[in-house]
Amino acid sequence: MQHKATLPPWCLTGLVMGACSLPLVLLATQLARGQLGPDPAERLMQDTGEWALRGLALVLLASPLARAGWRGVFRYRRILGVTVFLYVSVHLLLFAQVYVGWSGALLIEELKERPYVLVGFSAWLSLLPLALTSTDKARRRLGRHWRPLHRLIYPATLLAWLHLFWLARSDVGEAVVYGLIFAALLGWRLRRYRQRAR
Ligand code: HEM
Repeated sequence: MQHKATLPPWCLTGLVMGACSLPLVLLATQLARGQLGPDPAERLMQDTGEWALRGLALVLLASPLARAGWRGVFRYRRILGVTVFLYVSVHLLLFAQVYVGWSGALLIEELKERPYVLVGFSAWLSLLPLALTSTDKARRRLGRHWRPLHRLIYPATLLAWLHLFWLARSDVGEAVVYGLIFAALLGWRLRRYRQRAR
């Protein structure tokens, strides 16, 4: 009899966690070595934002992959979701440090004057309850309310995309690509929801 060589689940979990933290570790190393170009703060803002967007797309991809037979991916969705929150929070902390110098008054001014900052901040706020309730204990405590609460991932995705689109100014290529990816992933869900309702 032939045995398929498979890694134990804890090993895969470790690999997924390692892969999720790798971009952040690389960015920190490049920062320490002065390899982030002439404007390291801008580069860090862009890269943490980019990785958050990629992570969001991967979180949304988990359900279609599971439907296609890859049910195991569900096991790693939570790690990915928490990673997205981590990257967006680093993005927000950089903003607080570099752009507004931890001044509440300046933050309010930025939120008023730059709609894309307000939209990004709203995306972070929508992800906050998801991160806070990502543990098994919170899931048990929330019971049937957990799932509807975690649908906040949809407005968070739309707000994150709007943030990117608003920032794009003249070059909207990247925003269009992410727009198509998110539209396909959210469209898939909408179709499933309609099928179930019928
Ligand atoms: C889910 C939430 C968020 C995502 C996915 C995200 C994503 C991004 C991305 C990809 C960029 C780079 C765009 C580019 O120039 O190519 C960016 C830039 C920026 N983001 Fe966010 N962001 C989020 C939340 C926030 C929050 C909470 C703030 C601050 C309150 C913020 C403030 C900014 C600013 C100021 C820039 C411009 C950086 C620069 O080019 O100097 N973002 N964001």
